[in-house]
Amino acid sequence: MSDQQPETTDQKLKSYKGLEYDLNDPRFEGLSKNAIKRLLKEDLWQKNKPDRIKSQREKDKLKRRTRAQMAEQGLVAPAPKRLRSKDMVIGNRTIVIDCAFSEYMNDKEMDSIQSQLVRCYSANRTSKEGAEMVITGFDDRLKEALEKKTPSYDHWLHIQFKPESYEELYDKDKLVYLSADSDNVAHELDPEKIYIIGGIVDKNRHKNLCQNKAAKQGIATAQLPIGDYIQMSSRKVLTVNQVYEIMMKWIEYRDWEKAFTDVIPQRKLKDSVLLSEQASASPKQADNAEVPVASTEGTSAVPPASVEQSATNPADQDPTSKN
Ligand SMILES: C[S@@+](CC[C@H](N)C(=O)[O-])C[C@H]1O[C@@H](n2cnc3c(N)ncnc32)[C@H](O)[C@@H]1O
Repeated sequence: MSDQQPETTDQKLKSYKGLEYDLNDPRFEGLSKNAIKRLLKEDLWQKNKPDRIKSQREKDKLKRRTRAQMAEQGLVAPAPKRLRSKDMVIGNRTIVIDCAFSEYMNDKEMDSIQSQLVRCYSANRTSKEGAEMVITGFDDRLKEALEKKTPSYDHWLHIQFKPESYEELYDKDKLVYLSADSDNVAHELDPEKIYIIGGIVDKNRHKNLCQNKAAKQGIATAQLPIGDYIQMSSRKVLTVNQVYEIMMKWIEYRDWEKAFTDVIPQRKLKDSVLLSEQASASPKQADNAEVPVASTEGTSAVPPASVEQSATNPADQDPTSKN
């Protein structure tokens, strides 16, 4: 007779990537194999989180040390003094990034949105006057993308991650959804309004998506006044972080031209015309400069009547734009 402990009949031990679990655990009851796998994956993420954070910190430390050594040898410019998160200066504005678009993005685009959010946070952290950031429509897919690359995201300051929609959180009248497809132009950023940026990377596949979403919800929309300052040779659709960074610059300088030229990459501005330069070079020519897309004072939830017109501009078809 064996003196081995008999296996208890009510235990069904299994292993998932080194994590032992009991299939009879009540939290798995009634779940499909895939649903159980998802739960275990989440458990593993949580279990490994301290190690991930530690290893990322070590990598960052090594990077900083190597850079400092290179700076000492005069090989690179010294890194600018790091602004600590606790020293962030936050004004009285709230900016929402609507991230309820996971279903429209593939895995690569989800990784891009993660890095764009990191850039937004970084711009907010270092701005003269940052805003309270609110990520709405925060779902498991985005959570996973953030945890994968920036596990310390839940220690970020002045940023909230909310699964709810902005509609559930704020008074509709205070909201303005920013969209390159809007008929309205935001000539300034009203501190009383809460501006929403669509948290999506879609390489121009879903034209009007955010404009239509906001119009359907009865929420005001507006585009940035790019056309007032720059005659673009490509579409005026920018990435999430570019829009965020432009907003930060405008809040600091109250100067759209400076905000646009500081942030919009040179490759996107190639062959574009700065209207102020054109005006000073040839006043006559400036009279004929393209009039910016329909501009109304203030903002309202008007259906996108000018969309047809802008789509007929061949420059609007730029498929290379990375957004
Ligand atoms: C890559 S774009 C998304 C494009 C998407 N097809 C859409 O329907 O808006 C990301 C977000 O940046 C903002 N955005 C981009 N370009 C803009 C512009 N010229 N004016 C205002 N907002 C802009 C919008 O909030 C937009 O949802």
